[in-house]
Amino acid sequence: CGIVGYIGTQDTKEILLKGLEKLEYRGYDSAGIAVMNEDGVHVFKEKGRIADLREVVDANVAATVGIGHTRWATHGVPSKVNAHPHQSTSGRFTLVHNGVIENYAILKREYLQGVNLVSDTDTEVIVQIIEKFANEGQHIEVALRNTLAILKGSYAIALVDNEDPETIYVGKNKSPLLVGVGKGDFNVVASDAMAMIQVTDQFVELMDKEMVIVRKEAVTIKKLNGEIVERAPYTAELDASDIEKGTYPHYMLKEIDEQPLVIRKLIQKYQDENGTLTIDADIIKAVNQSDRIYIVAAGTSYHAGLVGAQMIEKLAKVPVEVHVASEFNYNMPILSERPLFIFISQSGETADSRAVLVQVKELGYPALTVTNVQGSTLSREADFTLLLHAGPEIAVASTKAYTAQLGVLSIFAAVLAESKGYNLEFDLVQDLGIVANAMEVLCDQKEELEDIARKFLSTTRNCFFIGRTMDYYVGLEGALKLKEISYIQAEGFAGGELKHGTIALIEEGTPVIAISTQEHVDLSIRGNVKEVVARGANPCIISMKGLETEEDSFVVPPVNELLSPLVSVIPLQLISYYAALHRDCDVDKPRNLAKSVTVE
Ligand code: G6P
Repeated sequence: CGIVGYIGTQDTKEILLKGLEKLEYRGYDSAGIAVMNEDGVHVFKEKGRIADLREVVDANVAATVGIGHTRWATHGVPSKVNAHPHQSTSGRFTLVHNGVIENYAILKREYLQGVNLVSDTDTEVIVQIIEKFANEGQHIEVALRNTLAILKGSYAIALVDNEDPETIYVGKNKSPLLVGVGKGDFNVVASDAMAMIQVTDQFVELMDKEMVIVRKEAVTIKKLNGEIVERAPYTAELDASDIEKGTYPHYMLKEIDEQPLVIRKLIQKYQDENGTLTIDADIIKAVNQSDRIYIVAAGTSYHAGLVGAQMIEKLAKVPVEVHVASEFNYNMPILSERPLFIFISQSGETADSRAVLVQVKELGYPALTVTNVQGSTLSREADFTLLLHAGPEIAVASTKAYTAQLGVLSIFAAVLAESKGYNLEFDLVQDLGIVANAMEVLCDQKEELEDIARKFLSTTRNCFFIGRTMDYYVGLEGALKLKEISYIQAEGFAGGELKHGTIALIEEGTPVIAISTQEHVDLSIRGNVKEVVARGANPCIISMKGLETEEDSFVVPPVNELLSPLVSVIPLQLISYYAALHRDCDVDKPRNLAKSVTVE
């Protein structure tokens, strides 16, 4: 979910709606705003997108204070009733919330006997308890503080009080929230800087268990015990044009096309003045003091972790385990004596990964975050950060962040290897340059890839991806892309594994996309293709130049085998894109998903 707030002199409706549009990547099943003027609070909410919300906002209501929310449902189905803002029974308090209140059922029992709750959300409990405390005579600030103190779980909230139209109250724990500082006559609140970059580039970070009193002319941060905290704003380095689609029909296509540039930029960012790739010496030192690396991530970032682990093991010969964050969190494996953790996260906000980081820090182990977002929660809370420098990624399905993650991990692996005295047999700067060129060639082959999507995927129910070693990991990512945006049921398998059960699903015409970029397993994966073809599958082989045969559907330019995922993933991204397009799917905002999942 994403939240925004504005207090100032301008009409707030449009500022809130524009901000919510920028936050839609965080969830888009329902949305709402509340604006406050001399007549009181006016709440508008709707199931669906911000565009649907726009339809129901009364243009005649003028107000200069307001809060807004776009939702990714956790407690309660997506509906108008469950959409935020939520109000207390008397209507005095109105609240938006991002996060999950774990003890909401207990709180409801303990504090809200006899109170009629209208929604199924955990959020309504918060606003009702604030009202209960206020009814008992507590000043709003005290009532809020006392409420926040009893909440268990994650929250970023913005609250307005009918009786105090000059203030937005804010609270934060675990969920991201920033306060944007205006030029003396307005201030804003947002889940991330992107939402409000149009009005200010000055933002103040909030720490967990802080609350903020936001007025038009001043921002006061307090701890939950009332103590005032002084913190200077930072300048958000975001170019408003980075977050526009330009002439592209979809962000996803724009972001796919940006990949060659992202890799070139990455090389530059990680080069020292002599052109040598470098990683902060403290990071390398910490890794060299550890005996095993644990990579923890979710979704596409997990897939990047699988490839990254191979790079690190092959080049630097350090053992690496890769774990899905949400599993690791509840089922920690027996750790080595001196573990070092790498969190991979495009957004730096994924709650599943963050929950593991919290545990790791409690245990006292070093942690490195690889992220696209400077100042994100995972970056702030880890000891070290490596940035992706990919620019904002807006499409829900991740593309350029994945290849940037692989780029950073390859640089990390190479620098680590050299620090251990291993001689790389190739020049990574040069090989990443070749990768960027190959990406460019692939981005120019959209028509061929659209034809492949049409031929293999326009009517199918399901699709399988097979590959061995590196190609297996890319297949997992290819399958995820296809599922996410086209809703075709897609699964990635290790080449040798499909036959151990899942081959039962192969019918006449079932598409099987096989990837072959690794010479030592080329023949075996082609053998696996034969097995599925014998059962009626429609094979689409994507190989690397040098390994290609006449039966292949598509050939990618040759690159260093260890870097091949950066290249072979591009046809998979584009095939998914066109498959989704042909099926009339919403490419940038697929159903049920959110880009940044800030709940566990
Ligand atoms: C969500 C997104 C995925 C993403 C995953 C991890 O589920 O829909 O595309 O890969 O979160 O996100 P992160 O920001 O941690 O990389």
